[in-house]
Amino acid sequence: MLAMSGASGKIRPIVLAPAPILKAKTRRVGQADIAVVQALLPDMFVTMYHAPGIGLAAPQVGVGLAVTVIDLMPDEKPAPLALINPEIIVASPELAIREEGCLSLPGQYAEVMRPARVTVGYHDATGEYRTIEAEGLLAACLQHEIDHLNGVLFIDRLSPLKRNIILRRLAKERRQKESASA
Ligand code: NI
Repeated sequence: MLAMSGASGKIRPIVLAPAPILKAKTRRVGQADIAVVQALLPDMFVTMYHAPGIGLAAPQVGVGLAVTVIDLMPDEKPAPLALINPEIIVASPELAIREEGCLSLPGQYAEVMRPARVTVGYHDATGEYRTIEAEGLLAACLQHEIDHLNGVLFIDRLSPLKRNIILRRLAKERRQKESASA
């Protein structure tokens, strides 16, 4: 499934922080969820490309299942990666700092420190178990998305001071937007 040819998905609204679903741990996908996931994946890709973003986790479209999509668009060509029940199997002791953002925290960016390299096990869209070894941007993106599936946002990896600055800035920008459109 999901060759992404002529992508039949539709854009779903993206849930913004501080919505409770973003803080909840997702449920692992089981046999009974397959139809839901097959309908969800094309929508998640279309929503991510439209945003645009390089990663999207199911809770960000209001679904509490362990599903995430990633596309770093290497050489500006699509390279869609769908991960079902992904888990970090190995994380390097070396750390790396990288600036991160999130579609649920629009316009907010901060440097986050994480293991520099990870090996992730997951099931692909056909149900096949695979592993992926990653470094650089892909390693950070995989960890950011797996965090989402555990109810963790990148701001939760910052100091409380930095996290509060971002949350206040986000709330202020939202109020300004609302009063501008009122
Ligand atoms: Ni995110």
